[in-house]
Amino acid sequence: MAADIPSFTLNTGAKIPSVGMGCWQGQPGAGKDNELVDALVKAINVGYRHLDTATGYANEREVGEAIRKSGVPRSDIFLTTKLRPGGVNDPVKEFEESFNKLDVEYIDLWLLHWPQGFTSSEGNFGGGDVCGLEHQKHLGPTFNETWAKMEDIFLNSHKGKVKAIGVSNFSIKNLEILLQTAKVVPAVNQIEQSPLLPEHKLNEYCKQKGIHITAYSPLGQMSSAVHDDETLNEIAKKHDVTAATVALSWAVQKGTSVAPKSTNEKRMKQNITLIKLSDEEMKQVDHISDDPKKHTRLNYLVFDKDTHKILGWTMEEMGWDVGFLQEPGKSTKKVGE
Ligand code: A2P
Repeated sequence: MAADIPSFTLNTGAKIPSVGMGCWQGQPGAGKDNELVDALVKAINVGYRHLDTATGYANEREVGEAIRKSGVPRSDIFLTTKLRPGGVNDPVKEFEESFNKLDVEYIDLWLLHWPQGFTSSEGNFGGGDVCGLEHQKHLGPTFNETWAKMEDIFLNSHKGKVKAIGVSNFSIKNLEILLQTAKVVPAVNQIEQSPLLPEHKLNEYCKQKGIHITAYSPLGQMSSAVHDDETLNEIAKKHDVTAATVALSWAVQKGTSVAPKSTNEKRMKQNITLIKLSDEEMKQVDHISDDPKKHTRLNYLVFDKDTHKILGWTMEEMGWDVGFLQEPGKSTKKVGE
């Protein structure tokens, strides 16, 4: 039975479920003994109708298999995948590989995973030198050039095989550069967003441009900071839910869709059961990050601790003014184990 998950309407007219399943993390035994496929079938069975994957996660084959195996009609499922930074030199080849691996008739949303690109396609996230910003143009395509190729795939060469295109990890600065040449306004910008990184300005900007925001790592990924936050726990106590439920409900109530990741059935269920927060509670969550110690990015997977760069780019090139403050540390507040 599909859970009652509200949807948002994209600038294409398509509907995106407000809660999806993030498939970013190497689930135990990904690709081995069908564990990932089983976990995703379970997710679909408990009501998830949006699966969010990427070429860089190296699991498109399993995601496609889970959709086919679930028995749920293809048209009821929203599927997102992403063009990896190492794939920017040949987006057509990358698209066709994703399409064939997924093998589910069409892709609902194809995102440019990062503004960065790499000169070599080796490895899931690419390798070689980093390229992409205007001053690095000699190294490879800029994201404007890559976007133009994605537009051509969407509008012409592979029309119908992909229903919408969008971006991920784009700041206002880089969206401004992109929109100077874009013919198609991205349908979605998928960004890291949580109560500790509410991205108020970027949300406002995207709203004005008709770009929907999807939050990845809405629970703070491997960090315990969201689960342990005092304000979230205070509100959670009043509603007899967890801090995770408050964080996800806040995001959806603000108009963003979320893609939390879980392989645990109880937490999967918990994460698609939203509550209604009062205006006062919404404000309280909005202001958690007013405390500079609680205003932080938590996606350490892309952060190089030595160079302080993000997949080869500086914070300035990313257009990010909030850095990485809190060290990851596994939460002790999980339910259902
Ligand atoms: P697990 O897969 O064991 O449930 P994010 O989506 O922000 O990247 O966070 C993912 C992490 O949070 C995973 O480690 C996941 O572990 C854990 N997680 C997912 N849902 C919950 C929840 N409701 N409560 C606590 N931890 C959760």
